[in-house]
Amino acid sequence: MNKKRRLVGQAILAALAFPSSALVQAADTGPIKIGLILPMTGQSASTGRQIDAAVKLWVAQNGNKVAGRTVEVILKDDGAVPDATKRIAQELIVNDKVSVIAGFGITPTALATAPLATQSKTPMVVMAAATSSITQASDFIVRTSFTLPQVATPIADWAAKNKIKRVITLVADYGPGFDAEKFFDSQFRLDGGQILDKLRTPLKAPDFAPVLQKVVDAKPDALFVFLPSGQGAAFMKQFAERGLDKSGVKLISTGDVTDDDQLADMGDVALGVVNSHHYSAAHPSAVNKKFVEAFQAANKGMRPNFMAVGGYDGMRVIYKALETTKGEGGDKLLNAMKGQIFESPRGAVLIDAQTRDIVQDVYIRKVERVPAMGNGLYNVEFDVIKAVKDPGKQK
Ligand code: PHB
Repeated sequence: MNKKRRLVGQAILAALAFPSSALVQAADTGPIKIGLILPMTGQSASTGRQIDAAVKLWVAQNGNKVAGRTVEVILKDDGAVPDATKRIAQELIVNDKVSVIAGFGITPTALATAPLATQSKTPMVVMAAATSSITQASDFIVRTSFTLPQVATPIADWAAKNKIKRVITLVADYGPGFDAEKFFDSQFRLDGGQILDKLRTPLKAPDFAPVLQKVVDAKPDALFVFLPSGQGAAFMKQFAERGLDKSGVKLISTGDVTDDDQLADMGDVALGVVNSHHYSAAHPSAVNKKFVEAFQAANKGMRPNFMAVGGYDGMRVIYKALETTKGEGGDKLLNAMKGQIFESPRGAVLIDAQTRDIVQDVYIRKVERVPAMGNGLYNVEFDVIKAVKDPGKQK
């Protein structure tokens, strides 16, 4: 009792020396900062543009206050160069004292930054990069995009069950490409299919002519393709230029190739391409219709793609977690991100508390003209595999 009185007395003295409102303000009411690192320039700039627009939409719709404190998003351009991402992340953590780092347009930028998240105990929300192993590079990583094994496995299964027996695979020569190639291959062969050849193109400045010539010569039943967002239109053009669209070789892919950001301008070559992915701007749900309308109203001439949804949902995960911790960061914030369940524009999603990766429905889609949507080209969903966990983490 005596001790308690003494403590109360000390507290009163302290309050006289430092007006308590000032103390409280410094600790609890300063802005909560989110460092958003995106490729706003260079080859992956469309990813940066899409995610930045989606993050701004989230803030416009949900306000810039969480738990009574102002949220400040600090956007930085890394040009998709891993050394730049790492340097920027360091500055954001040390100088700006951000509570979260987010974004990460391509796999090498996420992997380069992962050790900083671990060392500083800063939650890192991967909104774009999609190599399976990324979430294993730091216990502080939470992912709101997808993984290549998650989307490449279902299209392999669909192909094998739809009279496609002989396939050539073509992927970008880095992490997500290796995942796509490996998981397509194992599912397709499990289903009795045959892989004739495995082709790869460089991530930077790919030339599709040599690999497409191999496809012309080998005449497989289908060509399976994964290329990162932003390369689909150039690929489609060369596919058509070689007459492959009329050759009887079916084109199948992950939805990265028939990306909503570029699909409208791809032309008839894309018609009929069957692909698998977790998001289509034509996903027929009320939540998605509202999202697409609001996104287009705020960004004239732009259609949201899967990158935009990864950014939008990433903000949802961050905001909800901040509400739970009342603005506190570190381990507590990370824990509040785990296990979140919500309806995204893509459908129902869960942040797996064990793997910190996203569990989501994967759709089989076909590119069609949709008269009800201005006769534009869209990925029209016709089948769904529910609640797909990343197969890259299942033994
Ligand atoms: C990646 O680098 O992880 C990546 C980038 C773009 C995609 C998919 C994966 O569309």
